[in-house]
Amino acid sequence: MSHDFEYDLAFSRNIGWVTQTEQQTLKNKRIAIAGMGGVGGGHLLALVRLGITQFNLADFDEFGCENTNRQVGAATSSYGKKKLETMINMAKDINPDIDIKAFPQGVTKDNVDTFLDGCDIYVDALDFFVLDIRRLVFSRCETLKIPATTAAPIGLGTAYINFLPGKMSFEEYFDFKENSENEQYLKFYLGLTPSNLQKHALVDASRVDLANQKGPSNVAGCQLAAGVVVAQVVKILLNRGPVLCAPYSLHFDAFSNKLNRVWRPFGNKNPIQKLAFKLAKRKLHLHSQKLNSEEDIEQSSDLTLACKVIDLARWAPSGDNCQPWQFELLDESTFNVHARDTRASSVYDLDGHSSHIAHGILLETIEIAASKFSCRVEVIDIQGSEFSRIYKVALKHDDAVKPDPLLPHIKTRTVQRKAMGTRPLSDAEKSSLIASLPAGFKVQWYQSRKEKARFAWLNAHNAKTRLTMKEAYLVHREIIDWGKQFSETKIPEQALGLDRPTARLTQWLFKSWRRVAFFNRYLFGTVAPRVQLDFIPGVRASCHFTIYSEGKVENTSDYVAAGRAIQRFWLKTDQLQLGLQPSMTPLIFARYLESDISFTENRNAAYHAFKSYYLLKKVVKNHERVVFMGRLGRTNRPSSRSIRKALSTLLVKGS
Ligand SMILES: Cc1cc2nc3c(=O)[nH]c(=O)nc-3n(C[C@H](O)[C@H](O)[C@H](O)COP(=O)(O)O)c2cc1C
Repeated sequence: MSHDFEYDLAFSRNIGWVTQTEQQTLKNKRIAIAGMGGVGGGHLLALVRLGITQFNLADFDEFGCENTNRQVGAATSSYGKKKLETMINMAKDINPDIDIKAFPQGVTKDNVDTFLDGCDIYVDALDFFVLDIRRLVFSRCETLKIPATTAAPIGLGTAYINFLPGKMSFEEYFDFKENSENEQYLKFYLGLTPSNLQKHALVDASRVDLANQKGPSNVAGCQLAAGVVVAQVVKILLNRGPVLCAPYSLHFDAFSNKLNRVWRPFGNKNPIQKLAFKLAKRKLHLHSQKLNSEEDIEQSSDLTLACKVIDLARWAPSGDNCQPWQFELLDESTFNVHARDTRASSVYDLDGHSSHIAHGILLETIEIAASKFSCRVEVIDIQGSEFSRIYKVALKHDDAVKPDPLLPHIKTRTVQRKAMGTRPLSDAEKSSLIASLPAGFKVQWYQSRKEKARFAWLNAHNAKTRLTMKEAYLVHREIIDWGKQFSETKIPEQALGLDRPTARLTQWLFKSWRRVAFFNRYLFGTVAPRVQLDFIPGVRASCHFTIYSEGKVENTSDYVAAGRAIQRFWLKTDQLQLGLQPSMTPLIFARYLESDISFTENRNAAYHAFKSYYLLKKVVKNHERVVFMGRLGRTNRPSSRSIRKALSTLLVKGS
């Protein structure tokens, strides 16, 4: 066993798969790789082990903890270090004789030709979302007649395409022209993976977030991609038989045990690709547009600090997505929140307390949003009538304020009204949810089958009250956005969890109270929605929970404080990838009954409310202290959700 590096010995085990002469040919080749992250880092080390000795490498980024799951160079010792330098050191540790031209500023318009200078092949390893530079490099490769290969980690597999001189070009294949940035990402994705094999492994589609330039990636994909690149390089550089190139693409998915070879003449101009693009665009369109405008606002340097914070905080949830607030800008870092209640228009807002909870949620969200800009928040409850209050918010710069860990969840948190996975919460999950609550608030879990069934029955029973009283019908009529996947001011139909026939029927019934009343009375009209919206989801959950206050909950400020606690808990569930649906109406009707306030003229509904009240008292012992209740479960983020009013419509001028 020799302990001195010697080229022929180091790569002797390649011989057999390549000849001695071919190994020498590989030794004298130069390869350009742009990107030294999850893809490029693996490609580089694999190609060094193939025996390549000359590289042009580009990357400007540094390693961080978030790279650990897939990037070969990411280790605790390399956090904060340049990827390029780290990877060069690792490569030289394998072969000390390699010759590397480094491009620490990355590939740019100015250096692209120098970067490709003298290269025999270009290996694409840029981040998925770096499309402008990718297009530039491929276009220069085409002009300079340099073969190029791209092998991307997709799911637990890899998708790859070669672009050879004189054959279909990168631009011809992907057909980006005239497309917006997001559409270009989509075309790149669909062009790379026309067979969509990765769909079998994807458990949470919401993590593929083209609009926010984020997507899941893992080590299986990265390492498989590196192996594929080595094979393509061997074939192309050694002229070892026909090389498949665009419009052919290949996708090997180790999860579904499938290899697909797809031929798409005309690339993305092919009718099949066009259709796939149209369908995918429809699915993503509104969502991405909304989130994109969000990003634009947050990044914009023209906007004041106050605007940026409000723009994030407006994603706070409120009952029925009513968003009972407006914002009056006072100066760069101060604004008034005009917080109103909706008791005049909603039977669910008894004494305005549901709105007060939402106001607390908003104030907590403002505080979390401000942490993004190293600001602490001072809130003064300056004045108010019984129905509306004004909170003056001052953002104070403070270097000690670090981004709140819940910050990334402000926009992704959403309500899940559909059936969820039932695997019980682990002790660690429960502890972390309990720890998310501020002092004075506690949580009670209801996790056994029997308890879940009792809650499901309570909710289904309580729904009978809601569905048979005109006062609630008048609310429901206004808050559902029929046929919609997203809604700025209401709850979109698709987020409700009704099947299509029931949704269509309900939409028709909701045109008049007489229709609803008739259907309820003679045709068991409440059965289908109660089963679909209350009973099945009630059982299909990991647990039900109540959040209760240790002190009495009486006045507005108690409910505002509760709202703050609720938001931290809800954001934490999002961080733990749990779905949450509140179920507040049993509590609301209980309060009506206990305060002896009439809420319906319908005697039957009132009778059902009494029955639900007794059920509630049976399952929740301390219900008078409970400020929030609902269910939690295992789930993907829902594809349909309420979004929010535009920032511009939420800003008001002071009187
Ligand atoms: C105080 C409060 C009470 C709520 N009560 C219920 C409820 O009883 N049932 C339900 O399905 N959703 C309930 N929600 C969820 C809202 O309808 C939801 O947060 C809102 O439509 C915004 O949607 P998003 O959370 O998906 O952003 C409640 C939300 C809040 C803040």
